[in-house]
Amino acid sequence: MNDEIKKIPNTFGIDVSASSFFEYHSEDELQKKIETGGISMPYLHIGSGSNLLFIKDYEGTVLHSRITEIEVIAENENQVSVRVGAGMIWDDFVAYCVGKGWYGLENLSLIPGEVGASAVQNIGAYGVEVKDFITSVDTISIFGKKRVFQTRECEYAYRKSIFKRPEMKSVFVTYVTFCLSKKESYTLDYGTIRQELTKYSIVDLETLRRVIIEIRESKLPDPKILGNAGSFFMNPIVSRVRFEELQRQFPSMPHYDIDEERVKIPAGWMIDQCGWKGKALGPAAVHDKQALVLVNLGGATGSDIVALSDAVRASVYEKFRIEIFPEVNFI
Ligand code: EPU
Repeated sequence: MNDEIKKIPNTFGIDVSASSFFEYHSEDELQKKIETGGISMPYLHIGSGSNLLFIKDYEGTVLHSRITEIEVIAENENQVSVRVGAGMIWDDFVAYCVGKGWYGLENLSLIPGEVGASAVQNIGAYGVEVKDFITSVDTISIFGKKRVFQTRECEYAYRKSIFKRPEMKSVFVTYVTFCLSKKESYTLDYGTIRQELTKYSIVDLETLRRVIIEIRESKLPDPKILGNAGSFFMNPIVSRVRFEELQRQFPSMPHYDIDEERVKIPAGWMIDQCGWKGKALGPAAVHDKQALVLVNLGGATGSDIVALSDAVRASVYEKFRIEIFPEVNFI
């Protein structure tokens, strides 16, 4: 337990503190703290700060889970059900699954953050979304009430879940349960995965994880070197009618079909087309290898990043008449 003023961890590398910081290692420890009235308002529960942008110091209590155990709760020859503490580092969990020969999460290798946040954010990459492997989410509310959400109750959509609703701010994820396959199966049809795999003589879990890591490392900056929060913007979803109009004007516009009516357009491509790639505004910049990522060149404040974000959004709107919205949460 740790309760004094503390720097808030965040991958943007922004220097911010909280009035108090509380880390817990078990549900019991959290519950005891709640029962003794130890969590004062306002409060904010964080993961590893890989999707947060702090605009100023946080005048309140920051909570963080250090529950990191992994437990197999059911298993047969085809699949395994595994319950994982919300505080476990996401990529350590993926590495563990790959090591065990459990299929499903390998395309989500190297995504920053923790297991709890993966279920809040519905993380996704390379054709896989975590919601397809989550079976339930254990929570405790600020009032000490436990509730297990089954996946169908989580309202999962693209980078969205019930846990992102403002009124769910009082609900903390403690464990996430995943169902993974023991039978060989891969998702290889996104981007350049198949092409990259041809460099290796075999396709197995370890190789696919390695390829995903190589692709990510070639495009996404390492937050330890250059502060960032991964994709800064969500890819906007537009109607097919609107997309067809845009396509007439911009024939090379990449896109992903969501369903008959809706099409997702890569914000990174639009930002790139606006000429922002590699450009800086003070100490904040658009990453030179992936325009969807904003980076802290050193010493940036939250407001510097917001100023760049606003300028980028305005350019995209001017050129494409599409509004893009941050995926990162502003605090
Ligand atoms: N593109 C450009 N220029 C750029 C960036 C992208 O032209 O600077 C083009 C690419 O060539 C491609 C398209 O835009 O045709 C899409 O790019 P990419 O495949 O790199 O994916 P993305 O849409 O930029 C999304 C996720 C990433 C995830 C990748 C891979 C969102 C907001 N982002 O990015 O997620 O890793 O797909 O699946 O959905 C994250 O959420 O932090 C994240 C990194």
